[in-house]
Amino acid sequence: SAAEKGGYDYFMLKEIAEQPKAVADTLLGRIDPAGSLTLDEVRISPSELREIDKVVIVACGTAFHAGLIAKYAIEHWTRIPCEVELASEFRYRDPILDSRSLVIAISQSGETMDTLMALRHAREQGSKVLAICNTNGSTIPRESDAVLYTHAGPEVAVASTKAFLTQLVACYLVALYLGQVRGTKWGDEIQAVIKDLSRISEEVERVLETMEPVRALARTLAEKDTVLFLGRHVGYPVALEGALKLKELAYMHAEGFAAGELKHGPIALIEEDVPVVVVVPSPRGRSVLHDKIVSNIQEIRARGARTIVIAEEGDEAVVPYADHLIRIPATPTLLQPLVATVPLQVFACELATARGNEVDQPRNLAKSVTVE
Ligand code: AGP
Repeated sequence: SAAEKGGYDYFMLKEIAEQPKAVADTLLGRIDPAGSLTLDEVRISPSELREIDKVVIVACGTAFHAGLIAKYAIEHWTRIPCEVELASEFRYRDPILDSRSLVIAISQSGETMDTLMALRHAREQGSKVLAICNTNGSTIPRESDAVLYTHAGPEVAVASTKAFLTQLVACYLVALYLGQVRGTKWGDEIQAVIKDLSRISEEVERVLETMEPVRALARTLAEKDTVLFLGRHVGYPVALEGALKLKELAYMHAEGFAAGELKHGPIALIEEDVPVVVVVPSPRGRSVLHDKIVSNIQEIRARGARTIVIAEEGDEAVVPYADHLIRIPATPTLLQPLVATVPLQVFACELATARGNEVDQPRNLAKSVTVE
């Protein structure tokens, strides 16, 4: 009913709008007044956490994209090798695991069959399993050694939005906590990022306030067949997520690529007026990444692409090559997916509406895939 949707036309729009609160709720009570993390609910002791020599993340769909982003954060802040794998692949392999491996299963519903089977597969080999889950008491957290709940609240729309942002927050918390417990050389940076994280919900709110031009742009693309997405570093999984949202909702051909792969094949797809969304990393900090992507934008534009550039406020270098510019607030590189994903959600939702599709219940999809 309209009341359940809180005045929005679709649950998806309501859930996109709820993201600042979902993010804040997921952080609530997990950062102490001194600015350190307290994850007591993760009942794996600090000494056990110090023993871990490998992290393996298993998930499906959007939750898998959260895992891909988590890898960058975990390896950077903890120096523990981290693999990310689709649960449906992992469960049928012979992964190398033992009691010093930490397996993280990410799932909104907690009922996804492949993710559940992957975690059973891991436990059989003596690994500890930590679930990141949005549904209290569901099967995946019940079968895990520990759980870090995301507090997104119920997500009704089939296309995941607020659950994804809170999965990212939970992944950052785990990465920062592991870094904190193990004491890496990034101690000061970890402290600073915890501060940035505690303010991030306001930045998500600011992004939501500036989405009208994104909706207008989406409406002009309703007749297109293909949209491509490019990113580097954590912007790469964001590109994958943008493409997945568009497939699910707009039923359009959409693909995400690592921008560095362009010359290895995907650039052959660029032709006159193909829309290409590019997620641009911050020009501050790792500026080499930024410079590389600016030249990628130049390359595809020279071949006729219509460039839709998502870039940090104040990034002037992209302006000459952007047919459309979507601004996002400045954040530390690793946290950028929390703000960069939001315009892609809005974009896909509006395109679905413009094409007359059912936003909350896309064809052929179920909210939770409890079969193979
Ligand atoms: C996201 O928009 C999808 N509908 C889908 O990829 C989903 O993320 C995937 O099925 C995993 O679900 P889960 O998080 O409930 O395990």
